[in-house]
Amino acid sequence: MALTKINIAEQSFNPFELMGKDWMLISAGNVNKWNTMTASWGGVGVIWGKPSVTAYIRHSRYTKEFVDNSEYFTLTFLQDGHRDALNKMGTQSGRAIDKMHESGLTPIFVDGQPAFAEAKLVLVCKKRCKSEIAPEDILQEATIDKWYGDRDFHTMYIGEIIAAYQG
Ligand SMILES: Cc1cc2nc3c(=O)[nH]c(=O)nc-3n(C[C@H](O)[C@H](O)[C@H](O)COP(=O)(O)O)c2cc1C
Repeated sequence: MALTKINIAEQSFNPFELMGKDWMLISAGNVNKWNTMTASWGGVGVIWGKPSVTAYIRHSRYTKEFVDNSEYFTLTFLQDGHRDALNKMGTQSGRAIDKMHESGLTPIFVDGQPAFAEAKLVLVCKKRCKSEIAPEDILQEATIDKWYGDRDFHTMYIGEIIAAYQG
């Protein structure tokens, strides 16, 4: 399905549903080498006066290497019916399998950035900030116990939404 450019600030959606329940794919890299992973933690709103997202990526993720090395990343929200692909992208690492081609999804490049043709929404984000969710900054010890028993902490990325496309 062709993607149409939209103004993200004019859309209305529920981020708890869109990100938290339906999940998204975070992708980064270039046509020669890129990676993607499923994510359900994130936010959307206004940061530094611009429509922006936040994404939270654990240190162990292969995708982190691509986000760290790119000026941009994308968030792809898939049409209904791709739960298997989302589960695969969220349980297997691109270090072990060729996720781009084994997921059943169709990789595309949007403004030069990796995404998927099965999208209902693609957000192209310019990386504006990278910040560690450091254990000493987490205010409740219970959070560390619950989420970081393996010490695999998250890095937070703020991305300015520089373009948005609807499937
Ligand atoms: C529903 C779901 C949500 C996830 N959300 C996140 C997330 O927000 N941040 C994160 O670091 N990992 C998250 N993961 C785990 C990664 O998607 C998973 O570890 C993936 O295999 C990493 O792939 P990679 O090594 O190719 O980057 C999630 C997994 C699932 C199934």
